[in-house]
Amino acid sequence: MRKNIVAGNWKMNTTLPEGVKLAEQVNAALAAATPKCDVVICVPFTHLATINQVIDKTKLGLGAENCADHKSGAYTGEVSAPMVASTGATYVILGHSERRQYYGETSETLRDKVRLALDNGLAPIFCIGEVLEQREDGSYLNVVKTQIEEGLFNLSAEEFGKIILAYEPVWAIGTGKTATADQAEEMHAYIRQTIESKYGKEVADNTSILYGGSCKPSNAKEIFSKPNVDGGLIGGAALECESFMGIVNAF
Ligand code: PGA
Repeated sequence: MRKNIVAGNWKMNTTLPEGVKLAEQVNAALAAATPKCDVVICVPFTHLATINQVIDKTKLGLGAENCADHKSGAYTGEVSAPMVASTGATYVILGHSERRQYYGETSETLRDKVRLALDNGLAPIFCIGEVLEQREDGSYLNVVKTQIEEGLFNLSAEEFGKIILAYEPVWAIGTGKTATADQAEEMHAYIRQTIESKYGKEVADNTSILYGGSCKPSNAKEIFSKPNVDGGLIGGAALECESFMGIVNAF
């Protein structure tokens, strides 16, 4: 059966010393807890190798926030999936709306990134979600379906089984405006149905689908109580140990 997962997305926040301190705090909090979900932190590239040394990986997973769409070569400034894997990280966020919006990531580049992540043993946390206009004009279900089809449906069923999905309505990210639990459930159920129509019921039932967008300790419990919501991808609230653990403990 699918796993519940709470993953932090630190984005472009914390210096290395600040990040190490935060990772140590989360690690210490988890050492004293028995969470009912897997817990992951996705951190800046510069922090990965150091944080990998200070956390207990049996209790806290480590991931990057992106990787390159090429394996190696003359791509100044890029960080490849093999490089990420060599730090000890085992997850990678791909297709976050900020990357799609500000760095022009398309389904085509994302297919290459997903392939490289999987080839290097990284579990992709693949983000999808509509913008406000698409929510309001009613096209949101189709928008998300297309993102999944274009980004992932080239995979075999076995490969798809390694994907974690994160539904993040763009209008809810960093805005304080969370989707209601019912809005999240409607989309998550639709996503699961979309997966089922391509890969069958077993694969669909085994896929973890996380919600992201202004998730906080105060709203996590209600959102996570929905049958098709298997956890959260947490931005702002992951930058403090207490609020992040508050969300972890919502399970
Ligand atoms: P937020 O970000 O929790 O700060 O809204 C979520 C995300 O972008 O992953």
